Amino acid sequence: MSVALDLADIQGTVLRNRPMPYFGAYLLFRVDDADGAKALIRRLIPHVDSAQDWDDPADEAWINIVFTCEGLRRLGLAEDIVEGFPIEFRQGMAARKAYLGDVGASDPEHWDMPHGRVGFHVGLFVMAPSQAARDDKLAIGHAALGAGHGLTLVGRLDVGVPPTLREHFGFADGISRPFIEGEGGSPLPGQGAPMKAGEFVLGYENELGVLATGPGPEVLWRNGTYIAIRKIRQDVAAFRAFLRANGQTREEQEFVAAKMMGRWRSGCPLALAPTADDPSLVPDKQRNNAFGYYDDDPDGRITPVGCHIRRVNPRDALKDSITDARLHRVLRRGSAYGPLLPEDVLDDDGVDRGIVLAMINANPGRQFEFVQAQWVNDGDFISQGSRSDPIVGRRDRADDFLVPARPVRRRLTGLPDFTVTRGGEHVFLPSLTGLRWLARAAGS
Ligand code: HEM
Repeated sequence: MSVALDLADIQGTVLRNRPMPYFGAYLLFRVDDADGAKALIRRLIPHVDSAQDWDDPADEAWINIVFTCEGLRRLGLAEDIVEGFPIEFRQGMAARKAYLGDVGASDPEHWDMPHGRVGFHVGLFVMAPSQAARDDKLAIGHAALGAGHGLTLVGRLDVGVPPTLREHFGFADGISRPFIEGEGGSPLPGQGAPMKAGEFVLGYENELGVLATGPGPEVLWRNGTYIAIRKIRQDVAAFRAFLRANGQTREEQEFVAAKMMGRWRSGCPLALAPTADDPSLVPDKQRNNAFGYYDDDPDGRITPVGCHIRRVNPRDALKDSITDARLHRVLRRGSAYGPLLPEDVLDDDGVDRGIVLAMINANPGRQFEFVQAQWVNDGDFISQGSRSDPIVGRRDRADDFLVPARPVRRRLTGLPDFTVTRGGEHVFLPSLTGLRWLARAAGS
């Protein structure tokens, strides 16, 4: 049965892809005074974009607004309602560090993004197709939220696609994502059957066949959702050096990179181009994601079972296991930050660069946190012991990567930390109706 999503009430970033190229910014605020903050949020609400506005935004740019658990508290939300939110959201991401593998250099004590109880409480996200449009929209957001009593700006993070239109390790990104029931249109090959809307938006049935709900009055949670935000620093020099150490020619190095990711750096999937890149396939939406693993590649000789994309979305590969992969999907919005490391530089220049991941999910424990802890940072589910994701995984328990091949598999050893977590938070993205309610009724 088809589902009608209330697009005019759902904040735009949930269902709509960002533009390409993109220019964005995250402004992070602390709530100092509930009444003052609510008055400022009321000023901002007319500028917040819904999923319906997305294709035709008035200023060619989009504003969305989110809250941390402490932010909801400080706006005056009653404690018995706060207590009904998921534990991951209530604790905050820093407190989840042991489960999420944020250890060593990734430990929250080193994070540079404000987080936790005294960190940030309200987040304003702007996304635009040009820097000028971003700055215009930011000025509107800042004028509403930043120019008055009640909120203090405590952090700002600018994001934008590098001139290569690739993320910092050199891969094309933003190709594969789940298709959501009710979003309009029909799934592309490889997207699988439409996902139940309740996996990504509260107020709809989820993949377990139950209504995804939240605490307190329906007006607070219906058409809202959660976003797991992660600021991840990328050590581009280390990645390049690793490829050089494991491939004698450019072609061999590209092959190693493709085996680690599951796609060539062009974005072309290994599954459809096992031995040589075929960039012509990438713009073709009917083909660039049209693959599974179960029938054609059960042992991962083409797309290694431990590579990034096969871990984070095993597609049909776990069909014979007790894990239902459809219960662990996330909607990704990854945005690059920091300048590119000039091509062929093999030494770290100390400049901060990486990705800000925004993982949209209606159930942060079952979705983002499960993927991060079980699939990215562990290998048990694919009989790989404690081996982690070769690109973004933790390295304190295992640091090798297996590349199945005939006649003998290859084992890459000594993988360093290519990424370090620099910040993270679970935030709540209310609907527009929920936002109006929060800015008026909560606590009064
Ligand atoms: C530095 C960090 C990361 C980088 C550079 C990165 C890069 C990429 C790239 C290049 C792709 C392939 C393009 C595509 O399929 O759209 C991809 C896919 C994906 N990534 Fe990541 N990623 C990072 C971290 C993560 C993390 C931490 C998670 C989850 C916890 C994740 C989840 C996904 C998912 C779900 C897909 C789609 C796979 C598919 O549907 O086949 N990524 N990523």
